[in-house]
Amino acid sequence: MKQLNAVPTTNQKLVAWVNEWAAICKPDAIYWCDGSKEEYDRLCNEMVESGLAVRLNPEKRPNSLLFRSDPSDVARVEARTFIASETKEAAGPTNNWIDPKELKKTMLGLYDGCMKGRTMYVIPFSMGPVGSPIAKIGVEITDSAYVVINMEVMTRVGTKVLEVLGDGEFVPCVHSVGKPLAEGESDNGVWPCAPIEKKYIAQFPETREIWSFGSGYGGNALLGKKCLALRIATVQARDEGWLAEHMLILKLTNPQGEGKYVTGAFPSACGKTNLAMLIPTLPGWKVETVGDDISWMKFDDEGHLRAINPEAGFFGVAPGTSMKSNKNAMLSCAKDTIFTNVALTDDGDVWWEGIGYDAPAHLIDWKGNDWTPDTVDADGKPVKAAHPNARFTAKANNCPAIAAEWEDPAGVPIAAFLFGGRRPSTLPLVYQSKNWEHGVFIGSTVGSEVTAAALDVKAGTVRRDPFAMLPFCGYNMGDYFKHWLEIGKAGEAKGNLPKIFCVNWFRKSPEGKFMWPGFGDNSRVLAWVFDRCNNAGEYQETAIGTLPTVDAINLEGLEGEVSKEDLAELLKVDKEGWKNELEMIKEHYKKFEGHLPAELEAQLKELEARLA
Ligand code: OXD
Ligand code: MN
Repeated sequence: MKQLNAVPTTNQKLVAWVNEWAAICKPDAIYWCDGSKEEYDRLCNEMVESGLAVRLNPEKRPNSLLFRSDPSDVARVEARTFIASETKEAAGPTNNWIDPKELKKTMLGLYDGCMKGRTMYVIPFSMGPVGSPIAKIGVEITDSAYVVINMEVMTRVGTKVLEVLGDGEFVPCVHSVGKPLAEGESDNGVWPCAPIEKKYIAQFPETREIWSFGSGYGGNALLGKKCLALRIATVQARDEGWLAEHMLILKLTNPQGEGKYVTGAFPSACGKTNLAMLIPTLPGWKVETVGDDISWMKFDDEGHLRAINPEAGFFGVAPGTSMKSNKNAMLSCAKDTIFTNVALTDDGDVWWEGIGYDAPAHLIDWKGNDWTPDTVDADGKPVKAAHPNARFTAKANNCPAIAAEWEDPAGVPIAAFLFGGRRPSTLPLVYQSKNWEHGVFIGSTVGSEVTAAALDVKAGTVRRDPFAMLPFCGYNMGDYFKHWLEIGKAGEAKGNLPKIFCVNWFRKSPEGKFMWPGFGDNSRVLAWVFDRCNNAGEYQETAIGTLPTVDAINLEGLEGEVSKEDLAELLKVDKEGWKNELEMIKEHYKKFEGHLPAELEAQLKELEARLA
């Protein structure tokens, strides 16, 4: 086994761990990543030469690559994701569980010799600004150079991290695409991965280990993101008294120049990245981005929850992103970007559905096939040029809206939490929780309505995704609710706890039309949230919580689009709808039996009484 460079650390535990895994995976060579630009460029060039990547036209997309994954490896695989805690009960009712001893035995069988013919890369990375008291260090070993370059955008990688690590603790993350090469064999430009039944995304909460096998895509393979910064970090946060959340972080500045930091948890496909990068239509207001996906929060001495974005880049969904829906995301991926599964234009640029302009007459689609706007499949259905989960990996520093303090190691003090989902009915445009416990109740009931067309379920069914953490909580979700209640108790004394709000951009009229324009106009709702954080803003107390009065939301400039009557409807407490909601929440809560905190049962009863 060749050592391609000198071992850059004296951390004996780390060296021993790398050697142990090298002996299991049997790569041809070992390489320690230093996170330099030279290294990034060299790996990019190697992948272009081997046919795995296409270099985009530098005049259109400077310093950018396009990858096409295997059609079987295009998204996170929740059915193959496991929380392998010592007991099934510790993983709880919302996670897949396998006994850790059994899972390790199975996976060691798969890892045996899995890196033959490949290089094993060792990636020391920091989640959070290097050296921040809120940051954590992980080390990922992988046989994928695609993973290395993505990790170098999404996290802080290399020598600086090893310096801060010293002889300290790190989260060990093992990754292989699961496709060893025979003597003389090469990938021939084909994305390597293993079949679905051999894919495992495993978290071992007690030992803080991550083992991933068989997929090279996104959250399955970039182990700092969902596996470390959420699944393992939730367990650390529970034990250490902080919060690791699936939340965007934005800075909101009012026309008087006062700034506040707001986080938001929304299930997938609810526009989290769009909200994090919003351009307000309300004159004088400004939104800047601190993070678009994950927030780690710890109390400071004054009892403020201070948040960092543990990531350094965006792994954003490309389809639907346009200059109209998210100009800042478009500008973030104008250069230095890794695209995966978007379409390639004849002049070496990218295209996707919803990019805001028509497709050219010819493209190469995400599967590498010729594509024209009239291409149809065997059933005569139009073929999409980009995969719906096609992604861009872009540096946060390339985002024009990035807040100057986004890398402040101390984090930013959070004033408000927003929870929301896609709810065509019942839930108003915005309301504030009565107190922290009521806010935790709201977070625990977050959900999005699914349509019969989308899934094999009854239309109107709400898929509950508590705190938008359904696939990301590393332990029993009922205990996670309890942890949120405990954070409230810990923060209460100093009186600086963030306020909690529920928002819903997706209300529909009985005719099925969206009643609220969303996007930049969500700044009108953010302005009320801002005012409430100063105990200002017109409001009314209702059975469900504190709602704005109709005059409290500024509709200037929306004439002809949203009338006062529409707004009154958006801010109405629909008692019948809420009674139905109560029944659905009761059903949802049954899942957590034995672990549901009494405070949440009490919240449910109180809401029921207030609605009676
Ligand atoms: C993501 C997700 O990719 O939540 O961020 O799935
Ligand atoms: Mn996410």
